This record gives sequence, C-alpha cells and structure tokens, in this order.
Amino acid sequence: MNKILIIGACGQIGTALTEKLREDYGNENVIASDIREGGKEMMESGPFEIVDATSKERILEVVKKHEVKQVYLMAAMLSATAEKYPQKGWELNMTSLLAVLDLAKEKYIDKVFWPSSMAVFGSTSPKINTPQQTIMEPTTVYGISKVAGEHWCNYYHEKYGVDVRSIRYPGIISWKSLPGGGTTDYAVDIYFEALKKGSFECFLSEDTRLPMMYMEDAIDATVNIMKANPECVKTRTSYNLAAISFTPKEIAQEIKNYIPDFEITYKPDFRQDIADSWPRIIDDSAARKDWGWEHAYDLTSMTKDIITNLKKHEELLS
Ligand code: SER
Repeated sequence: MNKILIIGACGQIGTALTEKLREDYGNENVIASDIREGGKEMMESGPFEIVDATSKERILEVVKKHEVKQVYLMAAMLSATAEKYPQKGWELNMTSLLAVLDLAKEKYIDKVFWPSSMAVFGSTSPKINTPQQTIMEPTTVYGISKVAGEHWCNYYHEKYGVDVRSIRYPGIISWKSLPGGGTTDYAVDIYFEALKKGSFECFLSEDTRLPMMYMEDAIDATVNIMKANPECVKTRTSYNLAAISFTPKEIAQEIKNYIPDFEITYKPDFRQDIADSWPRIIDDSAARKDWGWEHAYDLTSMTKDIITNLKKHEELLS
C-alpha cells in the first residue's frame, strides 16, 4: 500500500478527508498531521504526527518514517485571515507547497494533491460561468498565493514530471468540522446560529451570490481526481469546480423551512469586498469532461442533511 500523508489534517477539509481516506485505504495507511493535535477521533483512529507545513525537513522525516507515497497538502491561511496577515499568509501558502513539490521532484513521493480556490479570480474575471481559462487578477493575498501556486504546480509537472493534481474549491459547507478565516464561512455559521439562537447576523449583504459546495461533494472530488488516470488530468494548474451558487437570502429561506421564525440581519464588513471580487457562478465543464466530476447536493438537500445531523449531534451546538 502506498501510504498517504495529510498535512493540515485538523482543518475543515482535512478532518473530513482524513476520515474518508482512512475508511477507503485503512486507518494505518493514512497519516494525519498538523501543527497541533486534533480531536479524539482524529488522534485515535490512526497515526498522527505534528508537522509544521513550512518545514521541508520535518515533512521529509515523516515521509521517510511512514514510507509515504502520496501527500495531500491541506494547510493554508484563508482569504479573510490572510488579509490581516499578508506576509504570514504568503509564507505559509507558498513555502509549504514548494516544500512538497520539491519532495516529489526529488522522488520521495509519487503524487501530490494541492487545493486551489475560486479566489484565483478577481474583479476583472467574468462573473457568470467563469471559464476554466480566463483573466485572473486576484485582489486578495490568498488569491495571489493560489494563482502563483497553480503555476508552480504546472511548472513542476511540465519541467520535472511531478504528478500534482489540483482543484479550485468554491466555499465549502460542513457541519462536523468548522472553517476558519474564510469569506464563505457565513454559510456554515448560519446553520449553527439558526439552531442555537434562531437568528443570524451576516457579514455579507443579502444578494451576494457565491459558488459553494457541500463537504461530501468536495471530498468526492478530491478523492476522484487523485484516483483518475494521469492522462485524464489534462489541466495541471488547477480545475474549476462548482456545485451550487446561492445568496445569504436564499440560504436563510431554506433554513426557514425548518425554523420558521428564523431571522437574518445583514452587516457587511471588509469581507464584502472580497466576496464582490469573486465569481457568482463557475463553469466546471473541464473537470466534468476530463475526470468525470459530478456533484450530488443542491441547496435543499444540503440544508436537510446539515439540519438533521446537527439536531442529532446537539453537543456540537453548545
Ligand atoms: N472558502 C475560501 C475563503 O473564503 C475560498 O476558497 O477564503
């Protein structure tokens, strides 16, 4: 078995990805790692290592110790936090990627997954059906780091034959593991606040439409692009990926089907400018054609699943 290392395993996507990969490939074959220890389930379900994602030496040590062949690099500073700490955001997002790409170039590992984001697009990109290839002039540090990272991925693929695969995630909605520091986080917080308090103050305006996706679909896409035959993965910068696009007003309306008295108010802050620079709807036909991407959840089925699960897991609401 080619062992797998997940860097940033305790983050929003890393947590769900670790659970899925351990289920698919066996607990002992999936090494979780992060800058700090994770929750009980993460720590007890398989091997765990403390790893600073910016330390190539430490990553190599863990790769050698566990005979790792595939790395999923999920550690990143997201859009809103990186606007507050631009230098740190750039440093974490770039240094970690170059470290992992170098390890693949040096043949310690065979395959790399690295997430990009819809944040690669900016105000000058077409907002509706944003194409795979178009103008990319991001206005956030996060977006700049993702565009640069995509080109590094493509460079290492072309120049050194590194098998690196990447998708541009939209906003990811989850209930089990929470996001931190992103502009799309409101669409997770809203469910928790609706169930806890019956009301929510949104930091984006009511008609801000953004591309989003349920965690189940995001994990599916991640696992499937890594399983695809190398010749099917024709884009080695990163693939557009889309599922649903909605506004705060529309998600609030869905929640009202379960909590009729739910109230939403709007108080846009600095994140509004970030959201306004991003696409409204993304064209992901290349991913669908090249490696068979398909999403399963729409806003209605996602809302039903999240509310049902949160009601079952009341401990998450405390
Ligand atoms: N969810 C991310 C953010 O809001 C976008 O990739 O920063």
